[in-house]
Amino acid sequence: MSDVLPQARPDLTGFAPYRTQQMAADVRLQANEWADPNPAARYLSDDELEALLLNRYPTAARDLLDALARRYGVGPDQIVVGNGSNEVLLYTFLLFGGHGRKTLLFQPTYSMHARLTQTAGGSVIDELVGLPYSLPAERALAAVERHRPEIVVICSPNNPSGTLVGEDVILSVARAVPRSLVLVDEAYADFAGFTVVPRIAEHPNLVVTKTFSKARAAAGLRLGILLAHPKVADMYRGVQLPYNLSSITAAVGAKIARDDAAIRGRVERNRTERERVHAALRRVSSIEAFPSETNFILFRLRAGTTEEVHARFLRESVLLRDLSSWPGCAGCLRVSIGTPDENDRFIAALRSVFGAAVAA
Ligand SMILES: Cc1ncc(COP(=O)(O)O)c(C=O)c1O
Repeated sequence: MSDVLPQARPDLTGFAPYRTQQMAADVRLQANEWADPNPAARYLSDDELEALLLNRYPTAARDLLDALARRYGVGPDQIVVGNGSNEVLLYTFLLFGGHGRKTLLFQPTYSMHARLTQTAGGSVIDELVGLPYSLPAERALAAVERHRPEIVVICSPNNPSGTLVGEDVILSVARAVPRSLVLVDEAYADFAGFTVVPRIAEHPNLVVTKTFSKARAAAGLRLGILLAHPKVADMYRGVQLPYNLSSITAAVGAKIARDDAAIRGRVERNRTERERVHAALRRVSSIEAFPSETNFILFRLRAGTTEEVHARFLRESVLLRDLSSWPGCAGCLRVSIGTPDENDRFIAALRSVFGAAVAA
């Protein structure tokens, strides 16, 4: 066999795959999923499954779009659906980024924004906010003025810090650069009762992404959406892959999109469990736990290495996310909020991992 390989784009040569930590563990608190089992069988009856004809391409997901339009108070023509929000994020960077164009990120933030910018051929500008993560309007505006990016990304609440970036900050950026796109990633916004969707009408350069993977408890479904001004949504439809959503995803998604009561219940349960986990973290003198509006908590070690602490949790069969390589996150780990039993396991593991540093 010849060892001559085709040449990839030089800027993507050696580009490492996106990796999450996938070690075996009973208690998996590394990916910010909703932890209670959510079986697909809950959503489709036998008759509905019979009616899903897999020999045909999917029809336009009318039912899903209508449910989402009602839920978010927008027209169906303002919604672009994707195979997870990562797909609509990719469309964003293909459409508004690319060669010679810049994406401004406020670090630390969700790592896919940088990866997808690069995949599309654009360049990333990192503005280091650090921890605790606080982004006042003056700071955001100064960065925008300095770099004049084609895309500004604001994740609110932000992953991995767990904190909100206020609507005032987002809108002042949108006003300052009306010819640039301001992408607001609201993957965790349900947990915080936050959204800037109603402001899209006055700010056509504002687009918002949302996911079914967190408070909607359907990470395995792979469904994400982008909400935009109708003319901007049309631009997205120009790059959208044909039939990018399977018939099954659209059918299940339409049911989940109407189930607001379930979201309210999860948000409430998450709040009480998050407070419990946060209180337990605050009892550990050798760490600093940051406040959170989401279904995860970021904490920083005052002593020791993240590798060592991550491994000690794994010995208790609790899997966390080591974020120490993310910008401004040296010494940081992130724990997702799990079921009450899983959170008990995490809280019990704190004592084995941190020993005498845990207050009684
Ligand atoms: C901020 C943020 N945006 C988007 C995503 C991706 O979501 P999806 O599963 O819809 O692709 C994640 C996943 O963790 C996330 O943290």
